[in-house]
Formats: sequence, C-alpha cells, structure tokens
Amino acid sequence: MDREQLEAGARNILLTNLRRGVADWNGKEYSFVCPSLTGYPFQWFWDSCFHAIALIHLDQEQAKAEMRTLMSGALPDGFIPHIIFWEMEKQPDFLSRNIVGQTSPFYSSTMQPPIIAYTVERIYQATGDESFREEALPVLTAFYRWVRRVRDPDNDGLIAVIQPEEAGTDCSPKYDEILGLEELSNQGFIAALRKVYEAYEPMRGDDARILAADIFHVEDVLVNSIYAMGLRSLSRLLGSSPEAEEFSQEADKVRDALLSKCWDEEAGAFFDLSGVAEKPVKVVTISSLMPLILEDLPRPIVERLVDQWVTDPQHFWTPYPLPSVPASDPKFMPGNPRGFIWRGPSWVNTNWFLSHALRRHGYTDLADTIVARSHECIEKSGFREYYHPYTAEGLGARDFGWSTLILDM
Ligand code: GLC
Repeated sequence: MDREQLEAGARNILLTNLRRGVADWNGKEYSFVCPSLTGYPFQWFWDSCFHAIALIHLDQEQAKAEMRTLMSGALPDGFIPHIIFWEMEKQPDFLSRNIVGQTSPFYSSTMQPPIIAYTVERIYQATGDESFREEALPVLTAFYRWVRRVRDPDNDGLIAVIQPEEAGTDCSPKYDEILGLEELSNQGFIAALRKVYEAYEPMRGDDARILAADIFHVEDVLVNSIYAMGLRSLSRLLGSSPEAEEFSQEADKVRDALLSKCWDEEAGAFFDLSGVAEKPVKVVTISSLMPLILEDLPRPIVERLVDQWVTDPQHFWTPYPLPSVPASDPKFMPGNPRGFIWRGPSWVNTNWFLSHALRRHGYTDLADTIVARSHECIEKSGFREYYHPYTAEGLGARDFGWSTLILDM
C-alpha cells in the first residue's frame, strides 16, 4: 500500500465512523469519529484524540471539530469523561451493560489517559489557528487542574486511576491480582469490574472517598507518562506565563516521581504502584516502556529499556512488534482473546507512541521497523483493533478508528 492508498483507506474509516448531530439530552451539536460502529459507537476520550491526530493529515477542520466535541463534554469542575454517550438512544444494549456511568446516564464518571493537550498542540501547530488555541486553553487548564486536584491525593505528582479502563489498557494482566480476577476471561474481568462498582456505589461520583477507600487505586505508569506529555504540551500552548510555569513544574514533578518511585533498577522496568501503600506491581507490560515518551528520560534508562526489553525477541521484539505483554510472560495471549484485551496482541496506538519516542531517542532503525510492521499489519488485515504479534492477523473490532494513526507515523 502506498501513501495514497493508505490515506484512502483511513479516510474511508474515519468518514464511515463519523457521527454528527444534536444530542437530545443536552441540545449540543456533536461531530466526532467513533472507534467502531459495531463495538464502540460513542465518543471515547483517548480514541478521539488519536482520531484527531490522524485527521490532521486528511481534514484539519474535522480534527478541530473532533476536539471541540470532546471539550464540550467537560463538566464545570473541569472533568472530561472517558465516554460520552452522544447518541444514547441508538444503542440500548450497550448502555444496559454500561457500569461506568455513575453519576449520569449520558457520560462515564471515569477518565482516560490525558493526551488531550498534546492533540490540541498538534492541531495548533498544523493550522496556526489562534482562535482554536484560545478557545481550548480554559478547558485544558481546568481539566489538567482537575486531574491534579482530584487524582493525586498524596501530592507526589503521580495521578491514580480508580478502575482499569481509565488507563485504556482494560484487561492487562498487571491488574489481575488487584482485581482478584478469578477467571482469566473477559467475563471474569467484567465480573471483577462489577464488584469494584458495587463497592463504589455508596460513594458515587466522590473520587476523594473512592480513592481513600483503596479498592482499586493504581498510580499507573502509562497514564502518568501520558500525563507528563500532556502537561508539557499545555505549558507550551500557554506561552510564557505563570500558568505555563505551573504546568511545566508539574511535568517535572511527574517525571521525577516516575523515576524515584516506579523505576525498578533490579528489574530494569517501570512498575505501577498499587494502593495508598504504593506497592509496586511487578508485572512487565507495554506500560513499563511508556516513560520512553518522555524526552528527558535519563539515557541509561532509555538504553536499558531498549536493550533489555524492546529489542529482545523473547520479550517485545516479535515479528509484528510491540505486543501489549512480553512473549516471555506465562499469561501472554497472542491470539484472539475474545474481548480479553491487552494481553498479547500489538496495537497501533502504543506503536505510534513508542515509534516516535524511539526516534526521538535516536533509534531510527527501530522506529522505522515498528512503523513498517504496523503498516504491514494494516496491509494484510485492514484497520483492525489489534493484531497478532506473530502473524499480523487482524483481531478485535473491524474498521477501527485509531489504527489510522499510521498516517502520523
Ligand atoms: C477498549 C480499549 C480502550 C479504548 C476503547 C474504545 O476499551 O481498551 O483503550 O479506548 O476500547 O476503543
């Protein structure tokens, strides 16, 4: 597939998955790309950011519309939900299974990895549209302040998630023990998640109490790496001002905490911290590599991650890298996991993050190979949700939005 064919394929998906209208429940206009018409018919936070990044290459007005729609979902306290059910009437089945809408039937009361400021920065860089930047800034500053105020109760810089979907890596094996997963399947995962939500029931929407209850309290490495990246973007978008300084210092604080609290020198990997007691979760997954997206990660750590994990065929260097779980893990499930996701297959969004990260750290060949293999997956199997790391077989949802990130790789 050459660039033109790839763009045509991506355009086709982004247009097919485009949802436009006026919501009955809040009277607001929406215009966004849903991840997949069949599996994920609503607006998801980080998917939306990825769609907008792909759209920069195809239709910059639509990229702005995607972000405007997402930002229009912000609540007065700054919070932006991880799912907004714009066309809720169209999917009664999906909604009856939804357990994350704790305070409203129209949106979830959970977050997703805070990449939004980076996305807005990219759109601003591509278009130079000052009014778009100015309109976005109050929403972004309120959102990142919400994240810090509500999700970092111990004020160490690291923010905590209250359930696995908030990290975007839903069924990752790193959460098995915390969730007390009894059955290793998607059903088992949903049952465990339901238990978490039952326990949250009396504390509905009160994140401070939920975090203090210490039921699922994870300072997640992937989430915090993306948080630091978002803070840097926000600081740059703000130009030189006290606010820019505020967010830049916060980004330093997150980076320092990742290094001092999550880096395990013996294992050579970054680990999440579980609970108020901050117990390291010593399971290596794709998250353990995510601090590579920080441009100022110390060089010895970059080299250790690359040499020990990324390029080792026993771990992440499979024929179609980078698997979500290293091949060496006994729980590695490379094939169709029947909805039990993030346990082996390779995903385009993490390849997008890590190919750019590796390139910035000087690993041009590695980055090129990741891009070429991601491209091959799409060529062989279409724009799928994730791919078999040995065969490039396409798995999960079809016509999946964020695999169009290939245009930005
Ligand atoms: C799954 C993924 C999550 C994504 C959502 C919509 O839940 O784990 O990261 O945002 O699907 O695509």
